[in-house]
Formats: sequence, structure tokens, C-alpha cells
Amino acid sequence: MVRRRLIAGNWKMNGTQAALGEVTEIARAADAHPGVDVALCLPATLIGRAVEAAGGLMIGGQDVHASPNGAHTGCISAAMLIDAGASLTIVGHSERRHDQHESDADVRAKAQAALAEGLHVILCVGESDDVRSSGAAVAHVVDQLDASLPDDPSRLSIAYEPIWAIGTGKVAGVADIAEMHAALRERLVATYGEAGQGMRILYGGSVKASNAVEIFAVPDVDGALVGGASLTAADFVPIIEAAVG
Ligand code: PGA
Repeated sequence: MVRRRLIAGNWKMNGTQAALGEVTEIARAADAHPGVDVALCLPATLIGRAVEAAGGLMIGGQDVHASPNGAHTGCISAAMLIDAGASLTIVGHSERRHDQHESDADVRAKAQAALAEGLHVILCVGESDDVRSSGAAVAHVVDQLDASLPDDPSRLSIAYEPIWAIGTGKVAGVADIAEMHAALRERLVATYGEAGQGMRILYGGSVKASNAVEIFAVPDVDGALVGGASLTAADFVPIIEAAVG
């Protein structure tokens, strides 16, 4: 099955309005390559201005609360993201699972809330160095996926991000990526039937222009979630170009 590739940038806690020029430049590259979906998940403070600056580029958040509103200081609901002009959000990034102690159940609830409101969702899973060394990576990540998946697979993508590869310059080997993505595909099909075939599974963790072509050639890799190399057009646009093929 042919799946449209999705290249999503995750700016994490980086970027002020001085960076909007990068957003505009990335949007121009995305317009020039209509065969690939391109998104930037930005700090919430930048979403509204980036939507204005970026034309057709998909702009997203990096997290969402599971509740529609209420006494949750500092949190943002799915309706608020949409109100700001966002069309997608990341849920379950390993930095949030670790720093904010988010459980699989929390991640599932966030995905449910975001999808119900109409957002696209990138749901992240991935193993630590210790789990990889113990030989249990596939079982661990598949369990994480099972416990995090929402009921509705429409507008849902998965990102496999080995924690030890994030921001470290280390990239999983292509055989390990292929093994993990195949296992995730099998679980998605077991869970959702035919819809699981159409879902995108992104790879994330130190993706750069220099390794993107090799990673995109792996079966069942349908794009990338990119951190550090998404912060500037100079680094990110070549990854978009690699996805065009
Ligand atoms: P990185 O981050 O590309 O900087 O490794 C990826 C991510 O955390 O999504």
C-alpha cells in the first residue's frame, strides 16, 4: 500500500517570533512538494502567528490535555489548539512521558480528546537504552502502543522514537527500524483491521538530511518526526526533499 509520507518537525521548547522566518521558508518548501505532507509542531505561543505566516503548512501543538476545559493551570485543550489554528498535535512524546510522568492511559486519553475535536494526532512510542540492551525492545514498544491507542484510527499517525536516539546523534540501525515498524504495523492491523494498513508510522530520533534517504527506504517507514533538524529551513528542507524521493 502506498501511504503519503508525513514529515513533522517538533520544535520542543525552542522558538520565539524571531524564528517565524524559518516557518515561512519551510512552508514555501512544503508548497513546492505537494506529494508529501509537512507539519511543524510548535510551542503554543507561536501557533497563531505561524498559521498566519505559513499559509498551507500544517501547524500543530506538542501536547494536549485530555479534558475540554477546567482547572488545569498551564494546560491547553484540543479546542484551544484548533482555536489557535492548529490542525494536529503530538501526544505521548517520551520527554513528556518522562518529565511529566505521563502514563499510557494518559496518552490514550489525550489522543481520544484530540481526535474527537478533529485534530490529527502523532502518537509517540519508543524504548529506553536499557530496554533495548535487554533485548525486549519490540515487546516493550508493542505493549506501549497497545495501551496508548485510541478507539478511532482516522487522522492518527504513530511515531517510533527510540529514546536513546533522541537528540543524541545516534540513529537506530535500519534492520532494527524495519523490525520495529513491521511489529507496529502488525499491531495496528490487528487492532483496526484494514485502516491499520493505511496509517503512517514515522521514525524519529536524530533524523537529518544525511540519514533521511536511508531511513525512508525502510519498509513501513512513512515519514519522520524531526527535532533538532527541524529548527531551521536549511536543515529541514533537505529532509522534506529526501521524502519526495
Ligand atoms: P531529534 O528529536 O530529531 O532532535 O532527535 C526527535 C524528537 O524528539 O521528536
